Amino acid sequence: MFEIYQDFEEIVSEKPLLIGLFEKQEKIEINEKINKEVEELIKDGIIKTGLGEVNKLPTFSKIKNKIVYIIGLGKKEEYTINKFKQAVKNINYKLGSELVILLDTFKGALGIKEVAFNLIMTSHYFNYKYDEFLSKKIDNDLLLKICTKEDIKEEIEEALNIAVAIDNTRDLVNRPYNYLSAIGLAEYASELVSSLDSDRVKIAIYNKKEIEELKMNAFLGVNKGSTCEPRLIYIKYQGLEEWKNPVALVGKGIMYDTGGYSIKTSMNTMKDDMAGAATVLGVMESLVKNKVKANVMVIICATDNRINGEALLPDDILTAMNGKTIEIVSTDAEGRLTLADAVCFAQKEGSKEIIDIATLTGACVVALGEYTTGLFGNDQNKVTEFLKAADETEESTWQLPITEHIREQVRSSKVADFTNSTGRPMGASGAAAFIEGFIEEKTKWLHLDIAGTAYHTSPSYKEFYGATGVMVHTIYRYLK
Ligand code: BES
Ligand code: MN
Ligand code: ZN
Repeated sequence: MFEIYQDFEEIVSEKPLLIGLFEKQEKIEINEKINKEVEELIKDGIIKTGLGEVNKLPTFSKIKNKIVYIIGLGKKEEYTINKFKQAVKNINYKLGSELVILLDTFKGALGIKEVAFNLIMTSHYFNYKYDEFLSKKIDNDLLLKICTKEDIKEEIEEALNIAVAIDNTRDLVNRPYNYLSAIGLAEYASELVSSLDSDRVKIAIYNKKEIEELKMNAFLGVNKGSTCEPRLIYIKYQGLEEWKNPVALVGKGIMYDTGGYSIKTSMNTMKDDMAGAATVLGVMESLVKNKVKANVMVIICATDNRINGEALLPDDILTAMNGKTIEIVSTDAEGRLTLADAVCFAQKEGSKEIIDIATLTGACVVALGEYTTGLFGNDQNKVTEFLKAADETEESTWQLPITEHIREQVRSSKVADFTNSTGRPMGASGAAAFIEGFIEEKTKWLHLDIAGTAYHTSPSYKEFYGATGVMVHTIYRYLK
């Protein structure tokens, strides 16, 4: 949690005080009762100023706070928002459950509003925990008392809304299948919408029969072998005066990916195959809470692909909502089947701009690893705009191609209009080209492959094990 104060002297607190210190900085301004002593220590080279270095100093009752933590900020000339975030990563419950931070000392040449925003985002992100099913809960609660004379209220509020939405996205992805099926996700979405308590948001949930009436047979094909009914989740958020030019956010909602009859030999972590769905719900929550002026539809085809005697088989042919036929080469290429129908639905509902987000291909993980999201699109201006947003949020994103050759390959079936797999070559691009095949001529479309970035089993940067909530912030920023 966070609280804002004008002046740290107004907080009668014994809790640790946090300040930032640049390399070669000689002066500090905590309080005249202690400044000199600390400056002596700096002069003697006792305090380390390398980026993120944490120095712990007792104050021997010279000031109320019993401890001062000095956080190294590195070279002042090289200081950026990214450097600030790296320093902030080390501010956590290990320093104390309640901390008083003098934000201005972390500013350097950066804007205080930007610093405040990123303080919230980063410290919230790195203090996330998932302990829903642990008997012994993780106690890492942290109250940060932020001190600055400048007005940062709006930034803090905006950041907090996004940070909480990202927590919710991470919780959904971390929740195992036996606690979150397609029906469960639809219930969550309904509860989320009513909790937002805004007449600008409307939700409709379609059951199996209603999905059949919509002729979403590619989506239904994936669900055929499951004992759990599918759900189509459709939310509209009207942030503008008029309902026009809605951007459709389509999230892959495979609640569990077994591979189907093309069964996965190792399917661990495939509870995360609904990360795209969780992401678009997180984006919607952030937009509504921050009253962003944008019109958005959220569309999720939620199902798992467990198998029984009814299940989809390789060689089967499915007919998508738009009448196009698809030869099933691998039942494990299921995400694109549900996404094909989802983008058809979005266009039928009047969207001319679609962003889909999906844990779509292992090939994207091979190409870009676990810290870079793959981006595809049919409109280079939109791609460029999106890359700019990703640059600002520092969520690494890289554009990958769809070429004519790849387009031909997804249309190379002898028996149907499309094939659902191009095999090992062009994995990520082939999947993208397949979805593109269901995008109408005048529709602008972006596709994000988060197979590598949505879930980290061996975190490299001290982020909590599992779901990352990647792209919630970037899509929010892009739409804003
Ligand atoms: N959900 C997987 C992709 C995935 C892989 C997500 C690793 C997260 C981590 C997707 O449905 C899948 O199985 N893709 C296949 C496609 C292939 C059969 C054409 C893949 O990538 O192997
Ligand atoms: Mn699959
Ligand atoms: Zn999948």
